[in-house]
Amino acid sequence: MDIGFLLNGEPVRLRADPPTRTLLDWLREDRGLTATKEGCNEGDCGACTVMVQDQDGIRALNACILFLPQLAGKAVRTVEGIRADDGGMHPVQTAMVEHHGSQCGFCTPGFIASMAVAHANGQTDHNDRLAGNLCRCTGYAPIIRAARAAEDTPVPQWIAADRSFSGSEISSGGLRSSGGQTAPLLPQSSDALAEIYAQTPDATLIAGATDVGLWVTKQLRDLDPVIFLHQCRDLARIEDWGDTLKIGAGVTIAKLWPLMREFYPSFGELLRRYGSVQVREAATLGGNIANGSPIGDSPPVLIALGARLHLRKGTARRDMPIEDFFIDYGKQDRAPGEFVEAITLPKDQPAMRCYKISKRFDQDISALCAAFNITVESDRISAARIAFGGMAGTPKRATALETALIGRDWSEDSVKAAAAALEEDFTPMSDMRASAAYRMETAKNLLLRYFHEMQGAQTSVLEVRP
Ligand SMILES: Cc1cc2nc3c(=O)[nH]c(=O)nc-3n(C[C@H](O)[C@H](O)[C@H](O)COP(=O)(O)OP(=O)(O)OC[C@H]3O[C@@H](n4cnc5c(N)ncnc54)[C@H](O)[C@@H]3O)c2cc1C
Ligand code: FES
Ligand code: FES
Repeated sequence: MDIGFLLNGEPVRLRADPPTRTLLDWLREDRGLTATKEGCNEGDCGACTVMVQDQDGIRALNACILFLPQLAGKAVRTVEGIRADDGGMHPVQTAMVEHHGSQCGFCTPGFIASMAVAHANGQTDHNDRLAGNLCRCTGYAPIIRAARAAEDTPVPQWIAADRSFSGSEISSGGLRSSGGQTAPLLPQSSDALAEIYAQTPDATLIAGATDVGLWVTKQLRDLDPVIFLHQCRDLARIEDWGDTLKIGAGVTIAKLWPLMREFYPSFGELLRRYGSVQVREAATLGGNIANGSPIGDSPPVLIALGARLHLRKGTARRDMPIEDFFIDYGKQDRAPGEFVEAITLPKDQPAMRCYKISKRFDQDISALCAAFNITVESDRISAARIAFGGMAGTPKRATALETALIGRDWSEDSVKAAAAALEEDFTPMSDMRASAAYRMETAKNLLLRYFHEMQGAQTSVLEVRP
């Protein structure tokens, strides 16, 4: 398979064989561009961060879990290509030197790539922008000072030049098969995807590759055949249907974040802590649901909101309450050749709140994720949708707790009494993220936190002031 993209301002064509070759391996092994570092090789440390530009804008992405076909028609900059227009240092590089933002320097190319992306986009929420870049020696204060110092400096002109590339001949050349492994499939629309996946139901679907990437880099799996979803632009659409939002399966977490911040601020806050910028820019909502993970962050929230999942196989479509999709650990209600097309969710559920508990505040998978949506009428609980992640083998609705709450008065005493029902709903397990006892106690405490928050108390550590 041949692909074309722009690398540090120069057009390149290459054979992506196998199609799951990562950009990081190709840069370091084939191009000798070794400034982009390999730290964890699983999307956690940001040492491999590169700048990627396409018609949707400029993004920081982890090259270690980015497959070469995902770059077709895009413009990539590694730290070797991030500079000022006169060939000198980029303003963020100058600021890093002036503010002593680097010691051993292993993390520095990744920081520079993330900072140059934020600089080009005018993003000044530096703590969030850099949460996916780990530094073992310098400490973050000098790095954040450097990012602040560079804020108002001019953006290099090569950024605009890279942007104009997306319409060029080499980028539109796209991909063609060239023997070797089965040619990966790159449908351009959900109709085309439906057709080829129905014909190739054993194929692995690859959306953002933030899960699938690790199957290759950590589990050393050979995936063949594969179908890449990122060129199905209609899957990345968000539609407003009045009282309902339809979110395409290919919408990234980064794109979902500002929308959810508007409708459901606690979901927005949860998404801010979902992985890192680099992960959120790649990861899709469809992938987060389809992987069936018991600790995925979006499913408990979507269950509490009463969202519906839309599936498609060929021309046949069906939809279901999202909780019905998760049958058992590793088992979802999805037939061979069937894919997640979209999620629909109501816009007006003002009582929904969700909480993410993880060992590390940023860039960490949840030990526990809880979402509550309790309706109170005349001081009595009339309805409840409550769901948890991290408490069972699937994201799961707490039906015993819901039953125990409905009909009771809305008071701290009844909430505390009903919380015991969680022991009927769940038998959590102990693992490296949390013990079973911690999970159960925290789940009960989160219900209490929800109660106090709905009474107007400040419950977020971010809001507590001395
Ligand atoms: C460093 C790091 C941090 C992370 N942090 C978090 C976190 O905080 N919270 C969290 O919830 N997750 C986290 N994840 C997990 C991951 O980002 C999510 O599960 C993500 O949403 C997966 O989406 P994707 O598009 O990358 O899926 P992919 O990796 O492309 O695919 C995942 C699975 O879904 C299937 N699939 C993808 N799209 C579809 C579709 N439309 N229809 C049917 N099947 C499909 C694939 O075949 C595969 O089985 C993290 C991952 C990494 C590497
Ligand atoms: S090497 Fe750590 S995120 Fe890629
Ligand atoms: S300077 Fe050494 S890891 Fe950051």
